[in-house]
Amino acid sequence: MMGAGMIPPFAVDEIDHTSPPPNRPEPGVTAAYGEYLTHTCKECHGDQLNGIPFGPPGQEVPSPNLTPGGRLASWSEQDFFTTLRTGVNPYGESLSDDMPWKYYGQMSDDELKAVWLYLQSLLPLDRVVRLPYI
Ligand code: HEC
Repeated sequence: MMGAGMIPPFAVDEIDHTSPPPNRPEPGVTAAYGEYLTHTCKECHGDQLNGIPFGPPGQEVPSPNLTPGGRLASWSEQDFFTTLRTGVNPYGESLSDDMPWKYYGQMSDDELKAVWLYLQSLLPLDRVVRLPYI
């Protein structure tokens, strides 16, 4: 079916393996390194990290807005650490397994600090409520 063009080819076949790797900023407690570490967050929280419905069509799950336009605006760095390390946010809500906090919570203190710095540097955006493909 893939050969007949009925389903799209694997992404790995589309990637130019001779292209240079993206710039990796020096590891450190900087927003630039935080941005580097949040590439995978964007898959679920959206390219602008302001929260999108994600998942297969018809089974979308909403992801929260991580920019200062959402409720993280009132969080402290400690709140952010506790949420990612325990899976419980400052409101006592346990995060579902849709949020892979058990893996992200294993980032080092410096890595989490960098991510927090980057999230705080973002423009305060509203959450995307419309489905991305409509
Ligand atoms: C596989 C999808 C997925 C990925 C990848 C992901 N998240 Fe999430 N995240 C979610 C979902 C879904 C929720 C909402 C969970 C719930 O409310 O039960 C969530 C919740 C959160 C929350 C809690 C927000 C709140 O208002 O309570 C934070 C903070 C968060 N994610 C940060 C991150 C960061 C930082 C990354 C990357 C390092 C990341 N997430 C990667 C899906 C994801």
